[in-house]
Amino acid sequence: ASTQRPEDVIQRYMQVVAGVADEDCIICMDQLSNPSGYETPSSEGGALNVLPDAVGKFIKCGHTLHMLCMLAMYNNGTKDGSLQCPSCKTIYGEKTGTQPKGKMEIYSISQALPGHPDCGTIQIIYSIPPGIQGPEHPNPGQPYTCRGFPRFCFLPDNDKGRKVLELLKVAWMRRLIFIVGTSSTTGEPDTVVWNGIHHKTEMMSNLSGHGFPDPNYLDNVLSELASQGVSEDCLQPA
Ligand code: APR
Ligand code: ZN
Ligand code: ZN
Repeated sequence: ASTQRPEDVIQRYMQVVAGVADEDCIICMDQLSNPSGYETPSSEGGALNVLPDAVGKFIKCGHTLHMLCMLAMYNNGTKDGSLQCPSCKTIYGEKTGTQPKGKMEIYSISQALPGHPDCGTIQIIYSIPPGIQGPEHPNPGQPYTCRGFPRFCFLPDNDKGRKVLELLKVAWMRRLIFIVGTSSTTGEPDTVVWNGIHHKTEMMSNLSGHGFPDPNYLDNVLSELASQGVSEDCLQPA
């Protein structure tokens, strides 16, 4: 969680607007001309300056909603100092996730992947040991399990594959690759699962559908990374 006060995060990325059009707030579905249904949260630091009838406009995408509704949504999340517009999903700041502690290792394999005959292979190994859920997880204080770890993943070792690797390293640092939740494959709750950034877990076979060949894979994973706020602008110029 961020050390910044939630209302400061809201005010960094939203501007108060006056004379609001007759539109609905996408969070509470009430009209923007009515006050937010959420109460101003009491804070240790004194009175909050987000008023129930304040309407805010996001500084980049321009979408408008009750500032207090956005504050409630922020307080309900990981409170990492970033905001995501609920209308268009534009990310403000640096989105982070709740992936538990573990390690990401990278190896190079000379063998080619099906569909990528002209290059070798990058192997990523994710290892996450079981542990106890923190306050950011669904059931704090309860254990979480880790099935199928270490997980072995593969990328073609070409320019685009190496770019995906660099972005996956950023996503790992930001704790976005895995979450603690319920596995849609096994139904098991309180376990470490993939978080919407697809990985290829089969190298020479494709029994699960998560193998090669897949001509669209690198583009698909680039757009999944982008939807979590991880794109080329996150990489330092080499
Ligand atoms: N390999 C890669 N991705 C997978 C796999 C797989 N074998 N199975 C499912 N996914 C993708 C799904 O497409 C979905 O988008 O992971 C996402 C979350 O699915 P869950 O079933 O909730 O994920 P999880 O329980 O973490 O893993 C399912 O993936 O890597 C394997 O060993 C792992 O067998 C497990 C399987
Ligand atoms: Zn609202
Ligand atoms: Zn927006």
